[in-house]
Amino acid sequence: MDKKDDTLRALALPFERQELDMPGRAFWLRAEAGEAMAPWRDQLECLQSFRPAYDQLVAAGFHAVESLSGGHGLGLVSLTKHKAENRALIARGLDLLAADGMLVCCGAKDSGAASLEKEAAKRFGLVGTLSKHQCRVFWLTKADAADWAAEGTPRPVPGTDLVARAGCFSPDHADPGSMLLASLLPAAMSGRVADLGAGWGYLSHQVLGRFPAVDKIDLYEAEALALEDARTNLAGFGDRAAFHWCDVTQGVGEVAPYDWVIANPPFHEGARTDPGIGQAFIRAAWKAIRRRGKFWLVANRHLPYEAELRRWFRDVETITQAEGFKVFQASNRHDR
Ligand SMILES: C[S@@+](CC[C@H](N)C(=O)[O-])C[C@H]1O[C@@H](n2cnc3c(N)ncnc32)[C@H](O)[C@@H]1O
Repeated sequence: MDKKDDTLRALALPFERQELDMPGRAFWLRAEAGEAMAPWRDQLECLQSFRPAYDQLVAAGFHAVESLSGGHGLGLVSLTKHKAENRALIARGLDLLAADGMLVCCGAKDSGAASLEKEAAKRFGLVGTLSKHQCRVFWLTKADAADWAAEGTPRPVPGTDLVARAGCFSPDHADPGSMLLASLLPAAMSGRVADLGAGWGYLSHQVLGRFPAVDKIDLYEAEALALEDARTNLAGFGDRAAFHWCDVTQGVGEVAPYDWVIANPPFHEGARTDPGIGQAFIRAAWKAIRRRGKFWLVANRHLPYEAELRRWFRDVETITQAEGFKVFQASNRHDR
């Protein structure tokens, strides 16, 4: 059992024990596919802004929705590891409830669910709680939480003139790996560019702001909330930027090949380090790039990306190793 399964088993418990009833229609914020919640698959309207998890919900037959309206008798929240995002999720859930509705929240203890439960108890009062599978589950009735809702709004990122919100990657500062990559990108950048795992648009903003010969950049990002902030951040560049809600590990689709691809790939699946994600990004870059195109990648130095780069590209150069990161340029794609 992994951590996600534990959280889903804990979330299912109050319903299995009949401490709470599942009505004919309920919502679920940050929903995740899994057998433990399958008995209520038809009742739950599942909201999930992270594309791989959204795709898993759809594949498992859950009812994934793009938006929700209010007036629900019951709502569920799967808590994340981000405190401010969790407060905003709870506020959103409370807002979506009918006057007599109930909100059930569940999260792993080692992601901070116990301290959030204490805060929620103090602030709103709780109707019930349980502790199982290394998780905390707590439920509460409708309340006003406008101040918690505000924690989910985009905020200025210090040191930049961009915004990002809680729950996105590195919303409090530009990532040092991305800053290193940006500082090294060659002035020769031109034509069509793809930014894989573009987040709230830091790298794309650098590219469009500094290299006027770049006609257009396509931002590919799995987290829809980050992509929304990227849209705000790049609004000044008009149609030089395009935005794609996409699981890059599945490729970026049939596209006209790019002159340049840039990436600072993710290397975590939940709490687990998984270099397979970055390796899949490398394959996606290979597939999307033109024959003489150039792929620039930054990664933590310890990650095993070099062999994968050499598998797909003839020329792989380490541009620098600094501050715990490596920056590579890969070019001359192999034909496979
Ligand atoms: C290391 S961050 C880099 C973000 C951004 N480029 C920057 O410089 O701030 C990696 C980004 O990849 C996104 N991501 C994670 N898994 C992804 C996937 N399967 N497909 C596309 N993007 C993904 C994350 O949401 C995150 O924004």
